Amino acid sequence: MRIFLDTANLEQIRRAKEWGVLDGVTTNPTIISRESMPYDELVREILRIVPGPVSLEVLSEDAEGMVREARELASLGENVVVKIPMTAEGMKAVRVLSEEGIRTNVTLVFSPLQALIAAKAGATYISPFVGRLDDIGHDGMAVVRDILQIIDNYGFESEVIVASVRHPRHVYEAALLGAPIVTMPFHVLEKMFKHPKTDEGLIRFKRDWEQYLRTVGRDGR
Ligand code: E4P
Repeated sequence: MRIFLDTANLEQIRRAKEWGVLDGVTTNPTIISRESMPYDELVREILRIVPGPVSLEVLSEDAEGMVREARELASLGENVVVKIPMTAEGMKAVRVLSEEGIRTNVTLVFSPLQALIAAKAGATYISPFVGRLDDIGHDGMAVVRDILQIIDNYGFESEVIVASVRHPRHVYEAALLGAPIVTMPFHVLEKMFKHPKTDEGLIRFKRDWEQYLRTVGRDGR
């Protein structure tokens, strides 16, 4: 599974990279609005740090505007992926961009049929939003399961990015489904490392080792 961070926070991106588990980053206008650095500067720094794809979202609502924005964004770096909303205009833009070799991530996907259309349009990535579906009493992971099945049935090249992840359980379920990519907030990634029995085990190993050193020592003297 490739792990993407759903953040524009440089500190979080740097830490995940240091841990050696960062494969990419996804952003959206809300995520960007949480930061205080000017957009161009922020994006350049993210593109420099991240060793893989970085999704940057367009704001236009018509295909022509989206394509124009996408070309500008794509010129910022080789690892740019342009995030396009799941609308009819968006799919027109995805078709044009895929023919130009510009990678796209179709966002705000909430149903398997939307994903089917995005795959047909030539999306590089498709992002179903599991958390927002769960929020309204639907089963977000069931939508992911069906999307994976449809993509497999027809051999589409699009890859699924499980998005709108709220907690480690979402990552666990996505892994059981074999989802190729999950994008998650930093706090979810942090929690994946943790287990109280690991902490307890470390404390016990340290205590027993110190007692052994005190009573027996290393060289028998
Ligand atoms: C996906 O690419 C989106 O940026 C993101 O996962 C949305 O998550 P949210 O529902 O927590 O805002």
